[in-house]
Amino acid sequence: MSTFKAPKGTYDLLPPESAKYLAVREAIAAPLRNSGYGYIETPGFENVELFARGVGESTDIVTKEMYVFETRGGDRLALRPETTASVLRAVLEANLHKAGNLPVKVWYSGSQYRYERPQKGRYRHFSQVGAEAIGAEDPALDAELIILADQSYRALGLRNFRILLNSLGDKECRPVYRAALQDFLHGLDLDEETLRRAEINPLRVLDDKRPEVQKQLTGAPLLGDYLCDACKAYHEEVRSLLLAQGVTFEDDPKLVRGLDYYTRTTFEFVHDGLGSQSAVGGGGRYDGLSEMIGGPSLPSVGWALGVDRTVLALQAEGIEPDIPSATSVFAVPLGEEARRILFAKVTELRKNGVAADFAYGGKGLKAAMKAANRSGARYALVLGERDLAEGVVQLKDMESGEQTAVGVNEIVAELESRLG
Ligand code: HAM
Repeated sequence: MSTFKAPKGTYDLLPPESAKYLAVREAIAAPLRNSGYGYIETPGFENVELFARGVGESTDIVTKEMYVFETRGGDRLALRPETTASVLRAVLEANLHKAGNLPVKVWYSGSQYRYERPQKGRYRHFSQVGAEAIGAEDPALDAELIILADQSYRALGLRNFRILLNSLGDKECRPVYRAALQDFLHGLDLDEETLRRAEINPLRVLDDKRPEVQKQLTGAPLLGDYLCDACKAYHEEVRSLLLAQGVTFEDDPKLVRGLDYYTRTTFEFVHDGLGSQSAVGGGGRYDGLSEMIGGPSLPSVGWALGVDRTVLALQAEGIEPDIPSATSVFAVPLGEEARRILFAKVTELRKNGVAADFAYGGKGLKAAMKAANRSGARYALVLGERDLAEGVVQLKDMESGEQTAVGVNEIVAELESRLG
């Protein structure tokens, strides 16, 4: 072991486990690629102001969890705690919204950083795959995104997840509700910090997990009862589009997200096998974010699914994602001459698209066959002194144990035909 360890709240993805993470990312990305979403990549850090304004000055993410630093040049940057604000910044900067093809639909995959109290499912470095549809107000777009997330989880084999759905209203009706909720909260017995939160962001108080707070919240006004007609109609349409596609969800009038930019549709995917960190993904509409960061009005909607928690959800359901064996053929040379010949064969196989590996380091037969076994290869190629003299190589089927001698010049074609 070296003197160093991975920083607190982080962990390394190592083979063979790491293949699961790739499989999850791929399963989430596939339906997006299939639905008109183009790949976008933005920097891992941004001007700190982008997140302060976008995610919200009163959120835990901005006040407590951002990794903020000053560069040698004096810029104040933050490691991205999420990617929606970055994506919108990038779209505006490149004027993609002016290309006349709205909505701009993009997906991303990458690291996020939040200085949180680490526990199972909650890390300081984690990874998301996300999708954003920018510049259109259309309930079908909200429904599309929810359906695509549902589809990726089902494709992975997950069953024990639920979709929680809510509407947070818009700039017409939310302020009215906010005032009503504040009135209600003022009458409660709350501690200093919660009272302060009630001033800055009263909706967040609804999300308080403490039983003594939750008990007092029965009878709190619900946003659903305050939605304006336009928001109500929009939400009804999202709901009925989902129901028509057979996507079941639970109406959760108390669902509040941890970011301030949301308007109207909000949703969370929760998994019941994960304990307290049960949200495997979440998102919603953010019609005001563009203006909050200095852009034009661009109503938008998106989500991000947590890769780490999705892998935990697979474990909780005992699902092994379908991961094809990394190696199909493993070559075992015995001696110098055999090494040169088999190395050439392995290179040729690889060029032809066959996944092949090699016993490096001059191992003896026993150790090399162990390595062949561990690689998961379907076939081993063994080339010894006598084989060399006869111009053959031993082809061993690792499943049946059956071994046949094949001419050195025929071996690549033979393997290709056997592997289909
Ligand atoms: P979020 O709910 O903050 O939303 O994060 C989305 C998902 O990332 C969570 O549901 C969870 O699975 C995962 N996640 C968040 N924090 C952690 C953590 N500390 N450790 C492990 N996993 C975590 C957003 O980030 C929004 N940008 C989503 C969005 C996109 N809204 C609109 N467009």
